[in-house]
Amino acid sequence: MNPSSLEAHNRDTTGREAAGIRRQIAGVSVADLAQQYGTPLYAYDAEMIRRRCRDLTAWDTVRFAQKACSNLAVLNLIRGAGVMVDAVSVGEIHRALAAGYSPHTSGTPAADSLPPVHPIVYTADIFDRESLDAVAMLGIHTNCGSADMLEQLAQRVPGSSVTLRVNPGFGHGHSQKTNTGGEGSKHGIWHEDIPEVLKRAEWAGLSVSGLHMHIGSGADLSHLAEVAGSLERVAIEIGRSLTMISAGGGLPVPYKPGEVHADLAGYFQLWDDTRKKLEATFGHRIRLEIEPGRYLTAESGFVVTEVRAIKSQGSRKYLLVDAGFNTLARPVLYGSWHPMSLCPTAMHAGAADGPFEEVAVGGPLCESGDIFTQQDGGFVETRSLPCATVGDYLVIEIAGAYGFAMASNYNSKPLPAEVLIDAGKARLVRARQTPEDLVRGETC
Ligand code: LLP
Repeated sequence: MNPSSLEAHNRDTTGREAAGIRRQIAGVSVADLAQQYGTPLYAYDAEMIRRRCRDLTAWDTVRFAQKACSNLAVLNLIRGAGVMVDAVSVGEIHRALAAGYSPHTSGTPAADSLPPVHPIVYTADIFDRESLDAVAMLGIHTNCGSADMLEQLAQRVPGSSVTLRVNPGFGHGHSQKTNTGGEGSKHGIWHEDIPEVLKRAEWAGLSVSGLHMHIGSGADLSHLAEVAGSLERVAIEIGRSLTMISAGGGLPVPYKPGEVHADLAGYFQLWDDTRKKLEATFGHRIRLEIEPGRYLTAESGFVVTEVRAIKSQGSRKYLLVDAGFNTLARPVLYGSWHPMSLCPTAMHAGAADGPFEEVAVGGPLCESGDIFTQQDGGFVETRSLPCATVGDYLVIEIAGAYGFAMASNYNSKPLPAEVLIDAGKARLVRARQTPEDLVRGETC
Protein backbone atom coordinates (compact mmCIF):
# COMPACT_ATOMS: atom_id res chain seq x y z
CA MET A 1 0.00 0.00 0.00
CA ASN A 2 1.18 3.51 -0.76
CA PRO A 3 1.30 5.28 2.64
CA SER A 4 0.46 8.65 1.07
CA SER A 5 -2.89 7.20 -0.03
CA LEU A 6 -3.71 6.96 3.66
CA GLU A 7 -4.48 10.70 3.74
CA ALA A 8 -8.04 10.91 2.44
CA HIS A 9 -11.70 11.57 3.16
CA ASN A 10 -12.50 15.15 3.96
CA ARG A 11 -15.39 15.07 6.44
CA ASP A 12 -16.77 18.37 7.67
CA THR A 13 -17.17 18.13 11.41
CA THR A 14 -17.16 21.80 12.32
CA GLY A 15 -20.94 22.12 12.54
CA ARG A 16 -20.77 25.92 12.52
CA GLU A 17 -23.84 27.85 11.36
CA ALA A 18 -22.10 30.49 9.29
CA ALA A 19 -18.54 31.52 8.71
CA GLY A 20 -17.05 32.38 12.07
CA ILE A 21 -20.34 32.20 14.00
CA ARG A 22 -21.44 29.51 16.46
CA ARG A 23 -24.55 29.90 18.58
CA GLN A 24 -24.89 26.28 19.68
CA ILE A 25 -22.76 23.39 20.81
CA ALA A 26 -24.35 19.99 20.24
CA GLY A 27 -27.78 21.60 20.19
CA VAL A 28 -27.34 23.70 23.35
CA SER A 29 -27.12 27.48 23.24
CA VAL A 30 -23.60 28.80 23.85
CA ALA A 31 -25.04 31.82 25.69
CA ASP A 32 -27.10 29.54 27.98
CA LEU A 33 -24.03 27.43 28.74
CA ALA A 34 -21.99 30.52 29.55
CA GLN A 35 -24.70 32.00 31.74
CA GLN A 36 -25.45 28.79 33.62
CA TYR A 37 -21.91 27.51 34.18
CA GLY A 38 -19.78 30.63 33.83
CA THR A 39 -16.76 31.15 31.60
CA PRO A 40 -14.24 29.93 30.74
CA LEU A 41 -15.95 26.57 30.36
CA TYR A 42 -15.14 23.24 28.70
CA ALA A 43 -18.12 21.65 26.93
CA TYR A 44 -17.96 18.16 25.38
CA ASP A 45 -20.32 16.67 22.80
CA ALA A 46 -20.97 13.09 23.96
CA GLU A 47 -22.26 11.89 20.60
CA MET A 48 -19.08 13.04 18.85
CA ILE A 49 -17.01 10.93 21.27
CA ARG A 50 -19.24 7.89 20.63
CA ARG A 51 -18.93 8.44 16.89
CA ARG A 52 -15.14 8.50 17.08
CA CYS A 53 -15.17 5.31 19.17
CA ARG A 54 -17.35 3.64 16.51
CA ASP A 55 -14.89 4.67 13.78
CA LEU A 56 -12.35 2.25 15.27
CA THR A 57 -14.45 -0.86 15.89
CA ALA A 58 -12.44 -2.90 13.36
CA TRP A 59 -9.61 -3.13 15.93
CA ASP A 60 -9.79 -5.94 18.52
CA THR A 61 -9.09 -3.40 21.25
CA VAL A 62 -9.29 0.35 21.29
CA ARG A 63 -7.46 1.70 24.34
CA PHE A 64 -8.05 5.35 25.21
CA ALA A 65 -4.93 7.31 26.17
CA GLN A 66 -6.79 9.16 28.91
CA LYS A 67 -4.03 11.77 29.24
CA ALA A 68 -5.94 13.50 26.41
CA CYS A 69 -9.11 14.02 28.46
CA SER A 70 -9.57 12.23 31.74
CA ASN A 71 -12.80 13.62 33.19
CA LEU A 72 -14.65 10.72 34.85
CA ALA A 73 -17.81 11.30 32.79
CA VAL A 74 -15.78 11.11 29.58
CA LEU A 75 -14.02 7.93 30.76
CA ASN A 76 -17.36 6.40 31.74
CA LEU A 77 -18.82 7.23 28.34
CA ILE A 78 -15.81 5.77 26.59
CA ARG A 79 -15.99 2.63 28.76
CA GLY A 80 -19.65 2.31 27.74
CA ALA A 81 -18.53 2.37 24.10
CA GLY A 82 -16.40 -0.74 24.75
CA VAL A 83 -13.07 1.10 24.80
CA MET A 84 -10.30 0.12 27.26
CA VAL A 85 -8.00 2.59 28.96
CA ASP A 86 -4.31 3.47 29.35
CA ALA A 87 -2.86 5.03 32.50
CA VAL A 88 0.48 6.79 32.95
CA SER A 89 0.23 7.53 36.68
CA VAL A 90 -1.45 6.48 39.89
CA GLY A 91 -3.85 9.36 39.37
CA GLU A 92 -4.89 7.95 36.01
CA ILE A 93 -5.25 4.45 37.49
CA HIS A 94 -7.47 5.95 40.16
CA ARG A 95 -9.55 7.75 37.54
CA ALA A 96 -9.99 4.57 35.49
CA LEU A 97 -11.19 2.65 38.56
CA ALA A 98 -13.51 5.50 39.57
CA ALA A 99 -15.01 5.45 36.06
CA GLY A 100 -15.83 1.75 36.44
CA TYR A 101 -12.93 -0.08 34.78
CA SER A 102 -11.81 -3.36 36.40
CA PRO A 103 -8.15 -3.40 37.41
CA HIS A 104 -7.34 -6.61 35.61
CA THR A 105 -8.70 -9.19 33.24
CA SER A 106 -10.70 -12.14 34.48
CA GLY A 107 -11.09 -15.60 33.01
CA THR A 108 -8.96 -17.62 30.64
CA PRO A 109 -9.58 -17.63 26.91
CA ALA A 110 -10.99 -20.60 25.06
CA ALA A 111 -8.40 -22.36 22.89
CA ASP A 112 -8.01 -20.67 19.52
CA SER A 113 -9.59 -17.40 20.67
CA LEU A 114 -7.94 -14.05 21.26
CA PRO A 115 -6.11 -13.62 24.56
CA PRO A 116 -8.11 -11.74 27.19
CA VAL A 117 -7.88 -7.98 27.19
CA HIS A 118 -6.39 -5.93 30.04
CA PRO A 119 -8.98 -3.26 30.90
CA ILE A 120 -6.32 -0.90 32.30
CA VAL A 121 -2.69 -0.87 31.17
CA TYR A 122 -0.02 1.18 32.95
CA THR A 123 2.29 2.56 30.23
CA ALA A 124 5.29 4.61 31.31
CA ASP A 125 9.07 4.79 31.19
CA ILE A 126 9.40 4.62 34.97
CA PHE A 127 7.60 3.31 38.01
CA ASP A 128 7.51 6.01 40.62
CA ARG A 129 7.07 4.42 44.03
CA GLU A 130 3.32 5.12 44.15
CA SER A 131 2.64 3.63 40.72
CA LEU A 132 4.65 0.49 41.52
CA ASP A 133 2.63 0.06 44.71
CA ALA A 134 -0.65 0.50 42.82
CA VAL A 135 0.26 -1.80 39.94
CA ALA A 136 1.43 -4.50 42.38
CA MET A 137 -1.54 -4.18 44.71
CA LEU A 138 -4.22 -4.07 42.02
CA GLY A 139 -2.65 -6.50 39.54
CA ILE A 140 -2.60 -3.97 36.72
CA HIS A 141 -0.84 -4.97 33.51
CA THR A 142 2.33 -2.99 32.73
CA ASN A 143 3.73 -1.79 29.43
CA CYS A 144 7.42 -1.17 30.22
CA GLY A 145 9.27 1.68 28.55
CA SER A 146 12.60 0.94 30.26
CA ALA A 147 14.40 -2.24 31.26
CA ASP A 148 14.73 -1.06 34.88
CA MET A 149 10.98 -1.39 35.20
CA LEU A 150 11.29 -5.15 34.60
CA GLU A 151 13.38 -5.89 37.69
CA GLN A 152 11.36 -3.47 39.81
CA LEU A 153 8.13 -5.22 38.83
CA ALA A 154 9.62 -8.71 39.20
CA GLN A 155 10.63 -7.97 42.80
CA ARG A 156 7.09 -6.98 43.67
CA VAL A 157 5.06 -9.31 41.42
CA PRO A 158 7.21 -12.35 40.54
CA GLY A 159 6.23 -14.18 37.37
CA SER A 160 4.27 -11.29 35.80
CA SER A 161 3.73 -11.01 32.10
CA VAL A 162 4.53 -7.64 30.59
CA THR A 163 4.30 -5.68 27.37
CA LEU A 164 7.38 -3.89 26.02
CA ARG A 165 7.12 -0.38 24.66
CA VAL A 166 9.80 -0.19 21.99
CA ASN A 167 11.31 2.92 20.40
CA PRO A 168 11.81 1.88 16.76
CA GLY A 169 14.55 4.48 16.18
CA PHE A 170 12.31 6.96 14.37
CA GLY A 171 9.32 9.06 15.32
CA HIS A 172 6.98 11.78 14.18
CA GLY A 173 4.57 14.27 15.77
CA HIS A 174 2.81 17.53 15.04
CA SER A 175 5.61 19.18 17.05
CA GLN A 176 9.13 18.10 17.99
CA LYS A 177 7.79 18.03 21.55
CA THR A 178 5.29 15.30 20.67
CA ASN A 179 7.68 13.12 18.67
CA THR A 180 8.28 10.04 20.83
CA GLY A 181 10.66 8.02 18.66
CA GLY A 182 14.31 8.19 17.71
CA GLU A 183 17.37 9.21 19.73
CA GLY A 184 15.82 12.56 20.58
CA SER A 185 13.12 10.86 22.63
CA LYS A 186 13.36 9.41 26.14
CA HIS A 187 10.49 7.03 25.42
CA GLY A 188 10.49 3.29 25.02
CA ILE A 189 13.12 0.58 25.00
CA TRP A 190 15.63 1.19 22.23
CA HIS A 191 14.97 -1.26 19.38
CA GLU A 192 18.57 -2.49 19.23
CA ASP A 193 18.49 -3.39 22.94
CA ILE A 194 15.77 -6.00 22.59
CA PRO A 195 18.01 -9.11 22.84
CA GLU A 196 19.59 -7.77 26.05
CA VAL A 197 16.22 -6.73 27.49
CA LEU A 198 14.73 -10.15 26.74
CA LYS A 199 17.59 -11.72 28.73
CA ARG A 200 16.90 -9.35 31.62
CA ALA A 201 13.20 -10.26 31.49
CA GLU A 202 14.04 -13.94 31.54
CA TRP A 203 16.46 -13.57 34.48
CA ALA A 204 13.78 -11.62 36.30
CA GLY A 205 11.28 -14.43 35.62
CA LEU A 206 8.92 -12.31 33.53
CA SER A 207 7.27 -13.29 30.28
CA VAL A 208 6.82 -10.83 27.44
CA SER A 209 3.27 -11.15 26.14
CA GLY A 210 2.89 -7.90 24.22
CA LEU A 211 4.71 -5.40 22.03
CA HIS A 212 3.79 -1.72 21.70
CA MET A 213 5.15 1.13 19.61
CA HIS A 214 3.98 4.73 19.85
CA ILE A 215 6.09 7.08 17.74
CA GLY A 216 4.36 10.37 18.44
CA SER A 217 1.22 12.40 18.71
CA GLY A 218 -0.50 14.07 15.79
CA ALA A 219 1.77 12.20 13.39
CA ASP A 220 0.78 11.81 9.79
CA LEU A 221 -0.34 8.37 8.71
CA SER A 222 2.51 7.84 6.29
CA HIS A 223 4.94 7.95 9.25
CA LEU A 224 2.63 5.87 11.42
CA ALA A 225 2.42 3.27 8.67
CA GLU A 226 6.20 2.71 8.83
CA VAL A 227 5.82 1.46 12.39
CA ALA A 228 4.10 -1.77 11.32
CA GLY A 229 7.24 -3.06 9.58
CA SER A 230 9.46 -2.22 12.57
CA LEU A 231 7.07 -3.83 14.99
CA GLU A 232 6.98 -6.98 12.90
CA ARG A 233 10.79 -7.29 13.00
CA VAL A 234 10.95 -6.80 16.78
CA ALA A 235 8.02 -9.20 17.27
CA ILE A 236 9.98 -11.95 15.51
CA GLU A 237 12.92 -11.31 17.88
CA ILE A 238 10.61 -11.66 20.89
CA GLY A 239 9.01 -14.81 19.55
CA ARG A 240 6.06 -17.01 20.43
CA SER A 241 5.35 -15.56 23.86
CA LEU A 242 3.68 -12.60 22.09
CA THR A 243 -0.11 -12.60 22.12
CA MET A 244 -0.77 -8.85 21.70
CA ILE A 245 0.57 -6.06 19.53
CA SER A 246 -0.29 -2.36 19.83
CA ALA A 247 0.02 0.28 17.13
CA GLY A 248 0.07 2.98 19.83
CA GLY A 249 -1.76 6.27 19.36
CA GLY A 250 -0.95 9.29 17.25
CA LEU A 251 -3.96 9.36 14.91
CA PRO A 252 -4.23 12.94 13.64
CA VAL A 253 -7.40 15.03 13.52
CA PRO A 254 -8.01 17.91 11.14
CA TYR A 255 -7.66 21.24 12.99
CA LYS A 256 -7.29 23.63 10.06
CA PRO A 257 -9.73 24.11 7.21
CA GLY A 258 -8.65 21.90 4.33
CA GLU A 259 -7.01 19.30 6.57
CA VAL A 260 -8.56 15.87 6.17
CA HIS A 261 -9.43 12.87 8.28
CA ALA A 262 -7.09 9.95 7.82
CA ASP A 263 -8.04 6.80 5.92
CA LEU A 264 -8.68 4.62 8.94
CA ALA A 265 -9.72 1.58 6.89
CA GLY A 266 -6.39 1.60 5.05
CA TYR A 267 -4.49 2.02 8.31
CA PHE A 268 -6.33 -0.87 9.94
CA GLN A 269 -5.68 -3.06 6.87
CA LEU A 270 -1.95 -2.44 7.16
CA TRP A 271 -1.90 -3.47 10.81
CA ASP A 272 -4.26 -6.39 10.29
CA ASP A 273 -1.89 -7.73 7.63
CA THR A 274 1.01 -7.41 10.09
CA ARG A 275 -0.98 -9.22 12.76
CA LYS A 276 -1.91 -12.02 10.33
CA LYS A 277 1.72 -12.53 9.32
CA LEU A 278 2.70 -12.84 12.98
CA GLU A 279 -0.19 -15.24 13.65
CA ALA A 280 1.02 -17.41 10.77
CA THR A 281 4.61 -17.33 12.09
CA PHE A 282 3.72 -18.07 15.72
CA GLY A 283 0.79 -20.41 15.11
CA HIS A 284 -1.57 -18.64 17.52
CA ARG A 285 -3.96 -15.70 17.67
CA ILE A 286 -2.63 -12.17 18.29
CA ARG A 287 -4.75 -9.36 19.72
CA LEU A 288 -4.42 -6.10 17.78
CA GLU A 289 -4.72 -2.86 19.76
CA ILE A 290 -4.74 0.83 18.93
CA GLU A 291 -4.25 3.53 21.59
CA PRO A 292 -5.64 6.87 20.50
CA GLY A 293 -6.09 9.87 22.74
CA ARG A 294 -6.64 12.89 20.51
CA TYR A 295 -8.76 11.05 17.93
CA LEU A 296 -11.47 10.09 20.41
CA THR A 297 -12.01 13.42 22.14
CA ALA A 298 -10.42 16.38 20.30
CA GLU A 299 -13.38 17.24 18.10
CA SER A 300 -15.89 16.85 20.92
CA GLY A 301 -14.42 19.65 23.04
CA PHE A 302 -15.09 23.41 23.04
CA VAL A 303 -13.79 26.17 25.28
CA VAL A 304 -16.44 28.83 25.83
CA THR A 305 -14.93 32.19 26.76
CA GLU A 306 -16.24 35.72 27.10
CA VAL A 307 -14.69 38.70 25.32
CA ARG A 308 -13.73 41.09 28.14
CA ALA A 309 -11.66 43.76 26.40
CA ILE A 310 -10.87 44.91 22.88
CA LYS A 311 -7.91 47.14 22.24
CA SER A 312 -5.41 48.18 19.62
CA GLN A 313 -1.66 48.21 20.15
CA GLY A 314 -0.50 50.36 17.27
CA SER A 315 -1.83 48.70 14.15
CA ARG A 316 -2.74 45.38 15.80
CA LYS A 317 -6.10 44.74 17.34
CA TYR A 318 -6.45 42.37 20.32
CA LEU A 319 -9.52 40.54 21.62
CA LEU A 320 -8.89 39.67 25.24
CA VAL A 321 -11.01 36.82 26.56
CA ASP A 322 -11.31 35.29 30.03
CA ALA A 323 -9.52 32.04 29.10
CA GLY A 324 -5.74 31.94 28.90
CA PHE A 325 -2.98 29.41 28.53
CA ASN A 326 -3.96 28.29 32.00
CA THR A 327 -7.18 27.06 30.29
CA LEU A 328 -5.81 25.80 26.96
CA ALA A 329 -2.03 25.49 26.73
CA ARG A 330 -1.62 24.01 23.23
CA PRO A 331 -1.08 27.35 21.41
CA VAL A 332 1.64 28.56 23.80
CA LEU A 333 3.29 25.14 24.01
CA TYR A 334 3.28 24.12 20.36
CA GLY A 335 1.92 27.07 18.36
CA SER A 336 -1.17 24.91 17.81
CA TRP A 337 -3.95 26.29 15.64
CA HIS A 338 -7.51 25.91 16.94
CA PRO A 339 -10.63 27.00 15.06
CA MET A 340 -12.44 29.90 16.75
CA SER A 341 -15.90 31.27 16.32
CA LEU A 342 -17.89 34.07 17.79
CA CYS A 343 -21.24 33.84 19.52
CA PRO A 344 -22.69 37.35 19.51
CA THR A 345 -24.81 38.10 22.56
CA ALA A 346 -28.44 39.16 22.18
CA MET A 347 -27.71 42.79 22.99
CA HIS A 348 -25.61 43.29 19.89
CA ALA A 349 -26.49 40.25 17.82
CA GLY A 350 -26.44 42.39 14.71
CA ALA A 351 -22.67 42.71 15.03
CA ALA A 352 -22.29 39.25 13.60
CA ASP A 353 -23.75 40.30 10.29
CA GLY A 354 -21.06 42.92 9.99
CA PRO A 355 -17.62 42.60 8.51
CA PHE A 356 -14.79 40.39 9.62
CA GLU A 357 -11.62 41.83 11.08
CA GLU A 358 -8.10 40.60 11.72
CA VAL A 359 -7.50 40.21 15.46
CA ALA A 360 -5.02 38.59 17.79
CA VAL A 361 -6.77 36.67 20.56
CA GLY A 362 -5.27 36.67 24.04
CA GLY A 363 -6.18 35.88 27.61
CA PRO A 364 -6.00 37.37 31.09
CA LEU A 365 -2.59 36.12 32.25
CA CYS A 366 0.31 38.34 33.14
CA GLU A 367 2.58 36.92 30.46
CA SER A 368 3.07 37.97 26.84
CA GLY A 369 2.80 34.39 25.65
CA ASP A 370 -0.85 34.30 26.72
CA ILE A 371 -2.04 34.41 23.11
CA PHE A 372 -4.20 31.83 21.35
CA THR A 373 -3.21 33.05 17.89
CA GLN A 374 0.50 32.32 17.83
CA GLN A 375 2.90 30.29 15.78
CA ASP A 376 5.47 27.92 17.19
CA GLY A 377 8.21 30.12 18.66
CA GLY A 378 5.74 32.63 20.11
CA PHE A 379 5.20 34.79 17.04
CA VAL A 380 1.81 36.47 17.40
CA GLU A 381 -0.45 36.23 14.38
CA THR A 382 -4.01 37.34 13.71
CA ARG A 383 -7.22 35.57 12.86
CA SER A 384 -10.07 36.78 10.72
CA LEU A 385 -13.14 36.80 12.98
CA PRO A 386 -16.52 38.52 12.82
CA CYS A 387 -16.33 41.92 14.52
CA ALA A 388 -16.84 41.39 18.23
CA THR A 389 -18.09 43.48 21.11
CA VAL A 390 -17.20 43.12 24.77
CA GLY A 391 -19.66 40.61 26.23
CA ASP A 392 -19.76 38.36 23.16
CA TYR A 393 -18.63 34.77 23.57
CA LEU A 394 -15.67 33.36 21.73
CA VAL A 395 -15.64 29.59 21.26
CA ILE A 396 -12.30 27.82 20.81
CA GLU A 397 -12.90 24.53 19.04
CA ILE A 398 -11.37 21.06 18.71
CA ALA A 399 -10.14 21.53 22.26
CA GLY A 400 -11.27 18.21 23.75
CA ALA A 401 -7.83 16.58 23.67
CA TYR A 402 -4.98 17.93 25.80
CA GLY A 403 -7.21 20.86 26.70
CA PHE A 404 -8.56 20.65 30.24
CA ALA A 405 -6.05 17.84 30.85
CA MET A 406 -3.18 20.34 30.57
CA ALA A 407 -4.93 23.28 32.25
CA SER A 408 -3.19 24.83 35.25
CA ASN A 409 -3.69 27.20 38.15
CA TYR A 410 -1.13 29.71 36.85
CA ASN A 411 -1.82 33.24 38.12
CA SER A 412 -4.03 31.49 40.71
CA LYS A 413 -6.79 31.05 38.20
CA PRO A 414 -9.31 28.32 39.05
CA LEU A 415 -9.64 25.30 36.76
CA PRO A 416 -12.76 25.80 34.65
CA ALA A 417 -15.97 23.82 34.90
CA GLU A 418 -16.59 20.96 32.47
CA VAL A 419 -19.99 20.00 31.06
CA LEU A 420 -21.00 17.00 28.97
CA ILE A 421 -23.77 17.55 26.44
CA ASP A 422 -25.80 14.49 25.53
CA ALA A 423 -29.11 14.32 23.64
CA GLY A 424 -29.42 18.11 23.74
CA LYS A 425 -28.90 18.36 27.52
CA ALA A 426 -25.85 19.75 29.30
CA ARG A 427 -24.69 18.19 32.58
CA LEU A 428 -22.02 19.61 34.88
CA VAL A 429 -19.31 16.93 35.17
CA ARG A 430 -16.71 18.98 37.02
CA ALA A 431 -17.39 22.08 39.08
CA ARG A 432 -15.29 25.19 38.57
CA GLN A 433 -12.62 25.45 41.27
CA THR A 434 -13.30 27.85 44.11
CA PRO A 435 -10.83 30.26 45.76
CA GLU A 436 -10.69 27.78 48.68
CA ASP A 437 -9.70 24.98 46.28
CA LEU A 438 -6.77 27.12 45.18
CA VAL A 439 -5.18 27.26 48.64
CA ARG A 440 -6.20 23.78 49.86
CA GLY A 441 -3.29 22.10 51.63
CA GLU A 442 -1.29 25.31 52.01
CA THR A 443 -0.36 26.90 55.33
CA CYS A 444 0.98 30.32 56.24
N1 LLP B 1 0.03 6.24 23.83
C1 LLP B 1 1.08 6.79 24.47
C2 LLP B 1 2.06 5.92 25.13
C3 LLP B 1 1.22 8.19 24.51
O1 LLP B 1 2.27 8.73 25.14
C4 LLP B 1 0.26 9.00 23.88
C5 LLP B 1 0.37 10.47 23.93
C6 LLP B 1 -0.83 8.37 23.24
C7 LLP B 1 -0.90 6.99 23.22
C8 LLP B 1 -1.92 9.14 22.57
O2 LLP B 1 -1.47 9.90 21.52
P1 LLP B 1 -2.57 10.63 20.60
O3 LLP B 1 -3.43 9.57 19.97
O4 LLP B 1 -3.36 11.51 21.47
O5 LLP B 1 -1.79 11.38 19.60
N2 LLP B 1 0.05 17.44 24.66
C9 LLP B 1 0.25 17.12 23.25
C10 LLP B 1 0.13 15.63 22.99
C11 LLP B 1 1.03 14.79 23.87
C12 LLP B 1 0.82 13.33 23.66
C13 LLP B 1 1.43 12.51 24.74
N3 LLP B 1 1.29 11.11 24.55
C14 LLP B 1 -0.73 17.94 22.40
O6 LLP B 1 -1.49 18.73 22.95
O7 LLP B 1 -0.73 17.81 21.18
